[in-house]
Amino acid sequence: MLVLGICGSPRKQSTDYVLREALTMMEEKGFETEFFGVRGKNLSPCRHCDYCIRNKECVVKDDMYEVYPLIKEADGLIMATPIYNGGLSAQLKTVMDRCRALGAEDVDYLRYKVGMGITVGGDRSGGQELAMQQIITYYILSGAIPVGGGSFGANIGANFWSQDSLQGVKDDEEGWRSLRKTVKHFSDFLDVYK
Ligand SMILES: Cc1cc2nc3c(=O)[nH]c(=O)nc-3n(C[C@H](O)[C@H](O)[C@H](O)COP(=O)(O)O)c2cc1C
Repeated sequence: MLVLGICGSPRKQSTDYVLREALTMMEEKGFETEFFGVRGKNLSPCRHCDYCIRNKECVVKDDMYEVYPLIKEADGLIMATPIYNGGLSAQLKTVMDRCRALGAEDVDYLRYKVGMGITVGGDRSGGQELAMQQIITYYILSGAIPVGGGSFGANIGANFWSQDSLQGVKDDEEGWRSLRKTVKHFSDFLDVYK
């Protein structure tokens, strides 16, 4: 089964690091993984031109065409975002919005797939929970099954406090605990489909 990690940070820093660790955990549990990051990519926002509704593909031929086939193929998704102004990054939101083209082609493009989120904020309460809700909302309205870490430890997903540095995220024990618990639930759900 394939797990696709999508990194919404334009930097190779803390969000990238945490997502790669999550994918390594999934590989150790026997899943195949793929990584797609927005860093260095050419990704335009959705124009709402409705070309996709008429033609079943996006008119903007940019780097979304790298991730479209991976999203279609994946059984599970991990969306990871840095916190920008109290919510998810514009780059990750662009990926979500541009998936309208996948929905135009097949309204069930995410149906019954399993999704989890990772958020990384510079501040301890910088908007991680809102960003996680945005990721979960995207999963729900796309037909995917969102998972968190369950009670006593992770609640609504893997949320990190980086203190604006890679070392900060490495030292965030609570964040790592929330990641381990969320990855456990995520892999348990995927195992149901095996
Ligand atoms: C434009 C911008 C807005 C930000 N806004 C917030 C914020 O509202 N809350 C917060 O906790 N951190 C905020 N940060 C800090 C980043 O979330 C933090 O440094 C994070 O670790 C960056 O992830 P990265 O290292 O993977 O790029 C902001 C950073 C940028 C560039």
